[in-house]
Amino acid sequence: MSVVDDIKGRLDIVDVISAYVSLKKAGRNFKGLCPFHTEKTPSFVVFPDNQSWHCFGSCGTGGDLFSFIMQKEKLDFGEALQVLAQRAGIELTARGEEVSPEEQVREQTRQVLQAAAAYFHNLLLSSPAAQMARDYVSRRGLDDNTISRFQLGYALNDWEALKRTFLAQGYTTDHLLTAGLLIHNEERGSTYDRFRQRLMIPICDVQGRVIGFGARAFDDTPPKYLNSPQTLVFDKGRVLYGLDQARRAIRDTGHVVIVEGYMDVLAAHQAGERNVVASMGTALTETQLRQLKRYTNEFILALDADDAGSHATIRGVHMARQALEKESVAVPTASGMVRQEARLAVNVRVMTLPQGFDPDDLIRHDVHQWHALVKAAAPLVDFLFGVVVQENDLSTAKGKATVVRELVPLIQELADPIERTHYVQRLARLTQVDERTIQREIERQAAASKLAVSADRQPRVSHPGAGAAAPVSAPRPSEGMAGYVLQQVLLQPRLLGEADRQLQELGFEPLRDADFGRSEQRTLLQVLTDLQGRGETWQLPALAEDVPPFLQSYLADLVRGLPTRPSLAADQAAHDLVNAVLRLRQVNLQQRLQELRYLQANDGGGAEGANSSENDYRLLVETQRQELGRLQVALSRRSLLSQSSQRPSPPTAAATGI
Ligand code: UTP
Ligand code: MN
Repeated sequence: MSVVDDIKGRLDIVDVISAYVSLKKAGRNFKGLCPFHTEKTPSFVVFPDNQSWHCFGSCGTGGDLFSFIMQKEKLDFGEALQVLAQRAGIELTARGEEVSPEEQVREQTRQVLQAAAAYFHNLLLSSPAAQMARDYVSRRGLDDNTISRFQLGYALNDWEALKRTFLAQGYTTDHLLTAGLLIHNEERGSTYDRFRQRLMIPICDVQGRVIGFGARAFDDTPPKYLNSPQTLVFDKGRVLYGLDQARRAIRDTGHVVIVEGYMDVLAAHQAGERNVVASMGTALTETQLRQLKRYTNEFILALDADDAGSHATIRGVHMARQALEKESVAVPTASGMVRQEARLAVNVRVMTLPQGFDPDDLIRHDVHQWHALVKAAAPLVDFLFGVVVQENDLSTAKGKATVVRELVPLIQELADPIERTHYVQRLARLTQVDERTIQREIERQAAASKLAVSADRQPRVSHPGAGAAAPVSAPRPSEGMAGYVLQQVLLQPRLLGEADRQLQELGFEPLRDADFGRSEQRTLLQVLTDLQGRGETWQLPALAEDVPPFLQSYLADLVRGLPTRPSLAADQAAHDLVNAVLRLRQVNLQQRLQELRYLQANDGGGAEGANSSENDYRLLVETQRQELGRLQVALSRRSLLSQSSQRPSPPTAAATGI
């Protein structure tokens, strides 16, 4: 459930509006004097059944709980959300998202970890017991600036130092266990500090919040590094050490350098090389690559000269990269169609470090050489050529076959035909297999992978907020025609202006606030109209960034319902949208009329102004009927037109509900 729906479920619209308008019961509904215009007889009605309100008087406004508060208190949607959430007793994040119970525990855990980082840091800075830790840090060449920027710390040589301190501050054993700071001893039923006599390195998420620790021993007795266990907030395979500090530099330099260790990152950043992050010793995961891909497509892997693990690392990267590449997204095209497009590929290069150096050593030793090596990083294909050739015996038939089989997919991936030829020749030379044979193998594998791609056509969902395309599904039933209209506009930005023009030509108003009952819909329309007013257009995944945070989940819902491929060309699409808008208005008017009739029937016994308001109703019903008639005429004309040209039509009102 969205926060908006949650709030609506917890607050009663009658209660809220009663604070502003004196309401009297009229059948199942409530009436009062409209707060938005001056009137003598009440024409402002609140409908508890569908939690909406409408003024049947001269201002003719209406909407839901949110639009009432927005209009009455002159707030925007985000502000109204904060006000109403508070009334409903729902805690919201600054972005306007609901804080779930689970998120509350996570937040609490991060808070404990933050406090622990500060505690360790202070010990390193000023505890007499930390002298040897300070000596260690300076022996490793880390300066004060690095110590404070990365909030390095010291854990005392004591089984309960942190526990005592934190319990005294009001934290519970549970808090500390959940944060991974204590270890539970099953046999004795007791708990003790996980980190003792170590250099503490806080690990942060992208937003810079502490989520765990890496803790280095001062000598080389294993484990050299003790890391936080997996917790609610920490998963080693999902974070990259240093990313929070590196992300700006990654954007600025256009590439990221991935190293293995904490110390490598510290040394690099200290030397001004800020686009460096660490995988923390394990093979890179798809999640990590995906995270990095938000900042750049140029990845450079720094590998030790003869690290046995590095081949595995490279293989891992290769696999993960392929997984990334397979992802396709729906992209609207200029002609109003949607095309499946593979995501930009990640470009991975490999830099090999001189024998006996890790990045930490090299940067300290000679930062210029580091630069040169980054610059000279070789394409992954080249590197894998080396690896695969080294791993197989090229003098045997089996070895040759393996090498060809492993390298062909890499060659086939290359977009540039000249590059492809280059590697085909190289592979032919290496294996002494005929070039044409290799070429045939490439074609065979290409055909096979095309089949796999088309079978795998359904695009995968990535971040829900980013609005990536998902399998076709119907719009949420409650969205009905209104949702359909918004979806079409989202899908094809240029439609909005065109449909508005056609509507006006037909003598109707352009698409407007009042066409929508839900405040989310109105706000979204506002965002789109503003963009259009500034002469900008939108593309679906990126649009999420222009939409205020509290609208993201609504937008994601709408986009989830989008067909990946609308079948209409642009002119047909505009025609279709106009029809949909007219139908939407038809549905709205029918609803209004129903409400009016109901009011008419239930208003007879009203103490005051019964007669005059009855007359008003008659008049209103009459105007609304006329408008409805006008709509119906327009719609049937258009449907005759479209029947003759076989135009597909939007879902009918009956099929989609209201
Ligand atoms: P390294 O052994 O290369 O350590 O492990 P390092 O970063 O160069 O550290 P120093 O220079 O010896 O102090 C690389 C990374 O692997 C993870 C850590 O993230 C480390 O930085 N690792 C290594 C562990 O998590 N635990 C270990 O016991 C060892
Ligand atoms: Mn090292």
